[in-house]
Amino acid sequence: MLTLTPDPVRPQTYMSRTHAFWRSSIGSKTLMAITGVLLFLFVVAHLVGNLQIFAGPEKLNGYAKMLADLGPLLWVARLSLLAIFVLHVATAIRLSRANKKARPVPYAREETIQATFASRSMLLSGLSLLAFVVYHLMHFTFGAVHGDDYVLKQGGGGHDVYAMVVASFSQAPIAFAYIAFQVLLFFHLSHGLQSFAQTIGVNHARYTPKIKSLSFLLAALVAGGNILLALAPMLGLVKAVA
Ligand code: HEM
Repeated sequence: MLTLTPDPVRPQTYMSRTHAFWRSSIGSKTLMAITGVLLFLFVVAHLVGNLQIFAGPEKLNGYAKMLADLGPLLWVARLSLLAIFVLHVATAIRLSRANKKARPVPYAREETIQATFASRSMLLSGLSLLAFVVYHLMHFTFGAVHGDDYVLKQGGGGHDVYAMVVASFSQAPIAFAYIAFQVLLFFHLSHGLQSFAQTIGVNHARYTPKIKSLSFLLAALVAGGNILLALAPMLGLVKAVA
């Protein structure tokens, strides 16, 4: 565990105290909770936006155009999202290293730890999701992978998001690769949301089971929504525009 140990020799300035707080165990957990909940809100907003695929190509492409038309504001949002993501990952790695340092020898009896599969694999599922985001950006944002599915709009004006999504997810290997990552997202979110509640102090015998169920439900809705998108073309729920 990281601890906040003030230096008895050097008096601490406001800046060094603030810095020490964010690097302490409690500060790092707070940072994980804040960045984690912001990333969760992004994933929910992204899913709600993407679900417009079921309302047809005009609706989804209109939404994508509305975002693109935000211009510099979109870049502010993208850079903020990137900063939040980097902070979340870097803090997770730092916390995990500090925990290992505090307990270099693992518990002799693993079953004594009341940890679920999701909680024990947070770093692994998180780093796998990082790999997913890189792949996903190369796929839908830059067209650097599965380039044949990167469809430009007829008459200019960027890429045709509807055509791209339908063309990609009509191919089983791509759809199933996305689905596999959504399973990881489910585990990561279901434990992450519970941790968030604990960090903000909602930790009571009466509420804990309810928080667990709610976290499970929210994680299932988000991952399930994304899985529905990935399966939609193969199930014939959305079709390529002739
Ligand atoms: C099946 C589910 C998903 C679909 C169909 C989907 C679709 C898309 C599309 C089409 C874009 C490009 C939009 C554009 O350039 O106009 C995009 C961007 C992006 N997606 Fe997804 N996405 C899915 C799941 C996810 C998940 C689970 C995450 C995060 C864990 C994510 C993170 C991002 C990010 C960070 C961007 C870049 C946003 C930007 O730069 O504006 N996506 N997605």
